[in-house]
Amino acid sequence: MSDTNSIGLHEGSATQLAEKLNHLLANYQIFYMNVRGYHWNVRGNDFFELHAKFEEFYTDLLAKVDEVAERILTLGHKPVHAYSDYVTLSRIQEDKDVHDGTTCVKGVLKGYQTIIELQRELLAIASDADDEGTAAQAGDYIREQEKTIWMLNAYLSK
Ligand SMILES: [Fe+2]
Repeated sequence: MSDTNSIGLHEGSATQLAEKLNHLLANYQIFYMNVRGYHWNVRGNDFFELHAKFEEFYTDLLAKVDEVAERILTLGHKPVHAYSDYVTLSRIQEDKDVHDGTTCVKGVLKGYQTIIELQRELLAIASDADDEGTAAQAGDYIREQEKTIWMLNAYLSK
């Protein structure tokens, strides 16, 4: 059993999962900071509504940053913890100097779409590795964020 880690997963699979989870973590961190930027910089008639909503989003993203990092540790690996690495690893790009409410909401929508895409990729790897813990976490996030996408699209089509 030397090729399994402390939770009974194959070391090779755990390494592959941790790598994918670190990519996801990097995306959550860049996305988090983008939404924090929208919260600070948004202007216009919807300021109060959007300023509060963006805080709700980034608070949730930050909670997931911690959960994803701790899943990596649970698998016996180390979470990436430098912003310089996040920038390199993240599929989501930094979004700077955005003020317009609609543009900010579109940035949130695009971020969630990318996060969901990454989590589907993670889910496929986790399923192949019989890693129910990672698969369940990714599945929960996907279901929750798909609903958020519906709401963001409803907002944008008003
Ligand atoms: Fe604030």
